[in-house]
Amino acid sequence: MNQALLDFISRCPTAYHTAAQVAARLEAAGFAPLQEGEKWDLTPGKGYYVTRNGSSLIAFRAPEGEGGFMIAAAHGDSPSFKVKENPELPGDNGLRLSVEKYGGMLCAPWLDRPLSLAGRAVVRTGTGVESRLIDFYQPVALIPNVAIHMNRKANEGMSYDAAVDMLPLYGGQPGTLRARAAALAGVEEPDLLAWDLYLYPTAPGTVWGEYVSAPRLDDLQCVFAALTAFLQAKPRAVPVLAVFDNEEVGSRTKQGAASTLLSDLLRRICGGEEEYRRRLADSLMLSCDNAHAVHPNHPEYADKNHTVRMNGGVVIKYNANQHYTSDGVSAALFRLICREAGVPVQLYANRADMPGGSTLGNIADATVSVNTVDIGLAQLAMHSCYETAGAADTAYMAAALTAFFGKRLQAERDGRYTLL
Ligand code: CO
Repeated sequence: MNQALLDFISRCPTAYHTAAQVAARLEAAGFAPLQEGEKWDLTPGKGYYVTRNGSSLIAFRAPEGEGGFMIAAAHGDSPSFKVKENPELPGDNGLRLSVEKYGGMLCAPWLDRPLSLAGRAVVRTGTGVESRLIDFYQPVALIPNVAIHMNRKANEGMSYDAAVDMLPLYGGQPGTLRARAAALAGVEEPDLLAWDLYLYPTAPGTVWGEYVSAPRLDDLQCVFAALTAFLQAKPRAVPVLAVFDNEEVGSRTKQGAASTLLSDLLRRICGGEEEYRRRLADSLMLSCDNAHAVHPNHPEYADKNHTVRMNGGVVIKYNANQHYTSDGVSAALFRLICREAGVPVQLYANRADMPGGSTLGNIADATVSVNTVDIGLAQLAMHSCYETAGAADTAYMAAALTAFFGKRLQAERDGRYTLL
């Protein structure tokens, strides 16, 4: 399963590629694309998917009868550097690229690594514009460190100024970047009207003993496991797979978890508002995003009673302030599903004096308000451009989510539920 995960990650350098890759795998399994702007005529039991902005995707099976939504959501974007519109920046020794941060990354791991570029080109058509995926594949840039001889304090704590320290050296001649992007998009340069272009490290992922290391494990490990489960599960209710863009920048975009995308779609697949409300009451959502494994060299950052380990199974994340949505009811339901499926569960909470992160669960919950539990897989070096996780854990997540998609929830009354 890890080789398949690494293959998936290598095909998903950006959120656009993630959505396209998920869409391709859904179509191979018989799912049909829907356009938000067209009239939908759904066949009960058949699988469909919708994309918005080419970077977020939601797939579902049309309802065959009663039953709530069994929703697994993850994110397809990762921290990176976005290339600005005027990309080439002359310097004292070669051309550099003008970039800005996308999301909150660890800067140091991005240094001294071969980097490529990928994203989407928006090109002129006969009547308007069209988006096309592009990927340079080969290394085209690198962000060089300053030698220890010039900065003797380099090993004593560094701060990185994105406008100074993080500008990559570009390997091409002046005037060639836009031309190369246009060629990859299959158009003449004047017809390349705009782009959304990001750096990514070209180093492939690797499995080494008990561990798997790769770029973008947060959150493509969860996307991959959720997609695998979604395709192999035997649903009893209405299974929904959501892969959102823009989690790393707060989700408040037209296609992010804070957008109307999920609620628009769920409303549309119901016959009306009454049916939508009824199904929502019987729904359960899993917000799937990786968790912090206890650091081998810095165990002091973990809460003593809530340390989670790689290869220890699926992590349920708790936060009193509800940055993670798990609560008594949602966690209990998920634990029951995992227990029946034989999947080990670990419990995570931040140290009480450390704020920790947040994710898309509570954001999506504000528009589609259902019982939700935040889960993930334990990993190290979150938001590095090369992260490490447990080699056994992807299969645990896939097994848990396969069991989840095979369940049906019934709310007997508020606070009392039956899992079928
Ligand atoms: Co994440």
